[in-house]
Amino acid sequence: MSDLSSCPVAELTPAGAAAELERLAIEIGRHDRRYYLDATPDISDADYDELRRRNLSIEARFSDLKRPDSPSLRVGAPAAEGFGKVEHGTPMLSLDNAFNSDNVTEFFARVRRFLGLDAEHPVDVVGEPKIDGISAALRYEAGNFVVGATRGDGSVGEDITANLRTVRDLPLRLAGADVPDILEIRGEVYLGREEFFALNNARENAGEARFANPRNAAAGSLRQLDSRITAQRGLHFFAYAWGEVSSMPAATQWEFLARLNEWGFRTNPLARLCATPEDVLALYEKIARERASLPYDIDGMVYKVDRLDWQERLGTVSRAPRWAIAHKFPAERAETVLREITIQVGRTGALTPVANLEPITVGGVVVSRATLHNEDEIARKDVREGDTVVVQRAGDVIPQIVEVILNKRPASAVAFDYPERCPECDSLATREEGEAIRRCTGGLICPAQAVERLKHFVSRDAFDIEGLGTRNIESFWRDGWIKTPDDIFRLERRERAGELGLHDREGWGEKSVENLFQAITERRQIGLDRFIYALGIRQVGQATARLLARQYGTLDAWRSAIDGARSREGEAYEELIAIEGIGTAVAEDILEFFGESHNRDVLDDLAAVLTITAVQAPASDSSLAGKTIVFTGTLETMTRAEAKSRAETLGAKVAGSVSKKTDFVVVGAEAGTKAKNAEGLGVTVLSEDQWRALALGD
Ligand code: IVH
Repeated sequence: MSDLSSCPVAELTPAGAAAELERLAIEIGRHDRRYYLDATPDISDADYDELRRRNLSIEARFSDLKRPDSPSLRVGAPAAEGFGKVEHGTPMLSLDNAFNSDNVTEFFARVRRFLGLDAEHPVDVVGEPKIDGISAALRYEAGNFVVGATRGDGSVGEDITANLRTVRDLPLRLAGADVPDILEIRGEVYLGREEFFALNNARENAGEARFANPRNAAAGSLRQLDSRITAQRGLHFFAYAWGEVSSMPAATQWEFLARLNEWGFRTNPLARLCATPEDVLALYEKIARERASLPYDIDGMVYKVDRLDWQERLGTVSRAPRWAIAHKFPAERAETVLREITIQVGRTGALTPVANLEPITVGGVVVSRATLHNEDEIARKDVREGDTVVVQRAGDVIPQIVEVILNKRPASAVAFDYPERCPECDSLATREEGEAIRRCTGGLICPAQAVERLKHFVSRDAFDIEGLGTRNIESFWRDGWIKTPDDIFRLERRERAGELGLHDREGWGEKSVENLFQAITERRQIGLDRFIYALGIRQVGQATARLLARQYGTLDAWRSAIDGARSREGEAYEELIAIEGIGTAVAEDILEFFGESHNRDVLDDLAAVLTITAVQAPASDSSLAGKTIVFTGTLETMTRAEAKSRAETLGAKVAGSVSKKTDFVVVGAEAGTKAKNAEGLGVTVLSEDQWRALALGD
């Protein structure tokens, strides 16, 4: 049979059309799963859109052949709705990465500095293989397995209890005498290599798509709506951490691993207790050598400070614990041909060159695109279209071009001519002094920026509007329904007034339209921190947005403060740059954002349709909640970093300099002018003991 997939729709016979519709349903379904569930798309958005378009035009010509499982009947993530939600009692954290031994040594040094330990003080660390699987949280009550969940976004996961029950390594009832009444165990669900190969062979024989790697296969298996299928997959589980526990019958990670075994869990047999960075690095080398012969995939090592009291003091920063680090194994590499360099325009107008590659498998995953970072990088590596290049993939990061194989360069290859105009809107793209990135100056008139900003606006950590994902934003933008963020909140009224016709759209039933409106309505009320983050100001990520929200409390207060700071001097400006974590560079980006009239318009329009709520400082029962503290001088019993972290945990803000807004100045040894300033301003001065009493209840 000739290749139907390239046959023009107008020339298809009914039999050919039926065959093509079947192929497209399977193929698009596969891409949807990769995109939505595994986040590993292996096809460009343009190619994907082309498949959908073809499906639609065949259906338009042969309407009676439309399949009940047609992709045109489905928009958004498949199957994922099938699971209930589980809120994690304590967040499921991720880990910071170390890519080389220096990073590991720095980790030890950081831990010591934070805890105020001198170089001689031993810091035991448990080294465990980092299992390349899917993390899961298992809740036991009175020793019985009651609920199991995925990590999800770290705060809310999906209820996959029924599927987890089928994992044979997972004890349904715990053994031993000292099992806490409430015990949440966390660990990794994974598929062994053997099982993975067998599964893929079976799928191939059945005409189903192969999984790219064991991790994706494990994810797919856990998300089965029918747990009988999960059961056949032969998943395994290694336990390594805990969440909520009613009491902790261990003082160290090492002891905890022993408890896990007593209770009936499998823990990784390669874990070791190490006393020095040298021991840790030797363990890393040893396991790296054994890696290929292990029956399951690991992608690095995890080092965890052994003492749990120290773990607690070290705490977490931006969703990763300070007491642990992942030490990655070197990235996997492969050679391929670079077909074309294209330029992508991001949310902030940054032009990013992308290498479009001859697809190649790197470490089990098909790679067809890699980032080239910026124009200097292209010049430095002298990357040209047609070159043979070395591609590297490390964990979840975007694949990179490591080098060009010069002796394979075709004679016709010419140096890449970097555009000076935006490929999306043709505005001038300029580069500022000292900046590596060229940016489009088109702002909101640039479709790429507007669309990317909108996608960011509705993304999970921002407005998190269910049903309004990347693809819908793109198509609503194309149709002119959503051009600016406030348009989102007008959708429902315009639809009801008959201006849009969303109900008549492919894939939008009554229910999904109502669900979308419901989700939008729910977000009419939003916390100031999420709101600020959603604006997509350069360098203002979640952590910075939170700091700003806490400092200023309301949108009005923030706006007038920023207006007051416009001259880059005076009290308002000083207050802005005194916020810990916000220096002059971040302040500059915020001021620039407010300097653009179209951004101010967006803020006005949003303020008119939203209720923006003040951010509550956490732990509001603490007498430090909402207070601003300045530390000065040397504290004897804790490091500055620990004091700051403690204060923030209790909901206080830590500032760098004393002003009228300061509530407390904590004065350590050899305090300088800040202590004097405080007295002059009538701010309460605390000794270290008084600080400990407030912060730790000593
Ligand atoms: S500890 C608070 N230990 O790696 C620390 N994580 O990159 C929580 N992982 O989400 C994680 N093996 O899914 C820990 N032995 C191990 C691990 C491990 C694999 C995964 C886990 C986590 C991710 C972080």
